[in-house]
Amino acid sequence: MSFTYRDGELHAEDVPLAAIAARHGTPTYVYSSAMLRSRYRAYVEAFADLAPVVCFALKANSNQAVIATFAREGAGADIVSLGEMKRALAAGIPASRIVFAGVGKTADEMRAALAAGIMQFNVESEPELRMLSGVAEAMDARAPVALRVNPDVDAGTHAKITTGKAENKFGIEMAQAPDVAALARALPGISLEALSVHIGSQLTTMAPFRAAFARLGDLARRLNATGPRLRRLDFGGGVGVVYRDEVPPDLSAYAAAVREAVAGLDVGIVLEPGRSLVAEAGVLLARVIRVKEGTAKRFAIVDAAMNDLIRPTLYEAWMPIMPVRAPREGANLSPMDVVGPICETGDYLARDRDMPPLAVGDLVVVGAAGAYGSAMGSTYNSRPLAAEVLVSGSRTALVRPREDIEAIIARESLAPWQA
Ligand code: LLP
Repeated sequence: MSFTYRDGELHAEDVPLAAIAARHGTPTYVYSSAMLRSRYRAYVEAFADLAPVVCFALKANSNQAVIATFAREGAGADIVSLGEMKRALAAGIPASRIVFAGVGKTADEMRAALAAGIMQFNVESEPELRMLSGVAEAMDARAPVALRVNPDVDAGTHAKITTGKAENKFGIEMAQAPDVAALARALPGISLEALSVHIGSQLTTMAPFRAAFARLGDLARRLNATGPRLRRLDFGGGVGVVYRDEVPPDLSAYAAAVREAVAGLDVGIVLEPGRSLVAEAGVLLARVIRVKEGTAKRFAIVDAAMNDLIRPTLYEAWMPIMPVRAPREGANLSPMDVVGPICETGDYLARDRDMPPLAVGDLVVVGAAGAYGSAMGSTYNSRPLAAEVLVSGSRTALVRPREDIEAIIARESLAPWQA
């Protein structure tokens, strides 16, 4: 395991987290290379017979060292902006393994991705398809396209991360898909190569996946009957992870659902996992600044806040919190709020959480914070972005220094008339 107590001290692989805090300060994200690799390999092994292109969804964690870890395992990338394309290429992911998703690709982004030679554009609407065709034609090119369909399946996850219902902004409605496919086949700048689907994130049951995958497979069979054979099917994001007591689908069941959907189709497989590759490989390390005892509540005020990790307040997400020094045996747990210093009531990492006694200066970690943690960080309250550290065995590297507040201020300037 990657984050374990040894002699009463929480370690990242072979490195005590206390040593990382002493050297690099807090708040700091810490990632385990071994865990990153093992999560990636789990996908490769579960899907071995299908030889998928596993496109890491960069939105979950876009640190160069993390992306490069996957690049060296042979991963592709799922990107949603030109910025993410640049990050993927810089970290060594070949353009030929990049899929570009998202409802709002601009013409500039399309041009850049076409010029780079990415594997496929996941197109989410007819107007997007027409724009892409125009951009490609002007470049004397044909854009490789997957139509992203909206299967109208409820993923049963948090409303803000559900994407596959008809009322969500994503994808082309199933009923319209055959017409849009016909248009794609006719447009001069488009090469229709694939279909894709993504119904949401943090799914903990197989049924919605199975329903969506089956609809995707059926549509592919129908389209194959009326035109050139589709070359790939893209099954979107990966399985959910364990934050508390969830029992996410195991990868062999997930792979079985894909296998079933593509039976007899002779297509390549694309996967776009994000969370399940990185969540459990990262923790957010923080230090207790103050303990405040109210009449109604106890608060541990720590130096990580909602700008560093917004999931608890944005999605009401329960994330594990552990002290870095193991509590002594039989220590009493009592409920407290673990909060940051930001001036908002929504600035909390945990509420009414049973915690062992905490004192000023103690270190804690938020677990399973490798996904949608640092990547969603901001500088709200003029708090510099947290540092990021990668561990491999007994080695430690600072892979992003804490942002420098002076540098942030220096980027801004007065208007000339204020001089
Ligand atoms: N592909 C597409 C088209 C997506 O929209 C997403 C995630 C993924 C792949 C990756 O899905 P995953 O394997 O990570 O479930 N910030 C939220 C999660 C947002 C997910 C957005 N789309 C959170 O912290 O829970």
